[in-house]
Amino acid sequence: MFVFSYESYHVYRDSLLSERDLYYTVVNLIYGRGITELLREMPFYISIFKKIIAYRLFKSKQPMYGSVDVNNICNLHCTHCYWWLNRKKGEQDLTAEDWRRIIRDKFNKQKIFVTTLVGGEPTLRPDVIEIFCKEMPRRVCVVTNATFPLRRFNGLYFYWVSMDGTEKVHDSIRGEGSYAMTKKNILDYVAGPDRDGRPAWTDIWISMTINSLNYMTVEELIEEWRGKVNKIGFQFHTPFVKGDPLMLPFGVVRNQVVDKLIEMKRKYPDFVVNPVKQLSLMKGNWGGTGTTPVDCPSWAILSLDHMGRVKQPCCIGSADAKSMKPLCEECGLGCYSILVSQGIRGA
Ligand SMILES: C[S@@+](CC[C@H](N)C(=O)[O-])C[C@H]1O[C@@H](n2cnc3c(N)ncnc32)[C@H](O)[C@@H]1O
Ligand code: SF4
Ligand code: SF4
Repeated sequence: MFVFSYESYHVYRDSLLSERDLYYTVVNLIYGRGITELLREMPFYISIFKKIIAYRLFKSKQPMYGSVDVNNICNLHCTHCYWWLNRKKGEQDLTAEDWRRIIRDKFNKQKIFVTTLVGGEPTLRPDVIEIFCKEMPRRVCVVTNATFPLRRFNGLYFYWVSMDGTEKVHDSIRGEGSYAMTKKNILDYVAGPDRDGRPAWTDIWISMTINSLNYMTVEELIEEWRGKVNKIGFQFHTPFVKGDPLMLPFGVVRNQVVDKLIEMKRKYPDFVVNPVKQLSLMKGNWGGTGTTPVDCPSWAILSLDHMGRVKQPCCIGSADAKSMKPLCEECGLGCYSILVSQGIRGA
């Protein structure tokens, strides 16, 4: 999952990002937005700009983005998944009306710009997705395994569809037959009618979490999906225990994978979303020490679990202080490292 800061274009233009990266960052954010939408969203642009200035000048830390686990259930049990590690058995999901109150009280009052709906599997709660899309039109992304047919939600920004490599390796991580289901659902959606006046293919962004099993399929996955969907983004597996065999260790092989991604970014700048600066960070530790975020701006994303409780230290953490914690010093998450690459940090 990734978030993009439009305001960074103005604030950090010369000092922090290359012109090319900035161009694509801005294009990604305002992509497909008409003048009416841009005007409607103006208060949010102004608010995020103010938050960035306040951070720069006074180190004031106010959340800019949101992440919400809309439910406590998933139809898959992927081998790499952090969510199952801390899942609370027996807890009910909130109702759509509960979420409407939370959106109004927490997200819209604080002028949270873009919110990502995660899970569990969020498409199992279309009623909640609908409420988010109504209350935060065009500011909601849904991260999904897309094993169920994808619905057209008015007011959705786009879908992040998780694909963990090409078919064989994806299935070894996500379960036999899951790649074929996801592929079918994407292609059916893309073949369908426009949504909110835009072609359906623009709604689909692929997200690949790179690990020690799938790293060699990065290029093939890009080539397979280029021209079929809008974009593809990459992040690396984040372990919760030292020595997790799924983490691609820092060193020669990881560097080669990052260099390949940079090469692909240069080849297909419109398709690969990660800026070069962010990809370069992923070669090493950009996050913190042990399980403590240091450079990581965990404060910048308001992360709630399925009960609306604040997760710590970040969107893959937990509201329960006794739960397992992600290793910041080996973190590969895209949504925070992109902020670091834009000069927004923990300290
Ligand atoms: C937890 S899933 C929830 C949404 C949905 N069920 C899906 O699979 O897309 C959100 C994203 O986190 C990724 N993910 C799971 N475990 C991870 C880990 N340990 N490190 C980094 N990303 C991880 C998944 O691949 C997926 O793209
Ligand atoms: S589908 Fe998503 S939430 Fe479910 S196990 Fe896989 S990564 Fe985790
Ligand atoms: S995003 Fe990564 S570095 Fe930041 S708090 Fe979470 S695990 Fe730590």
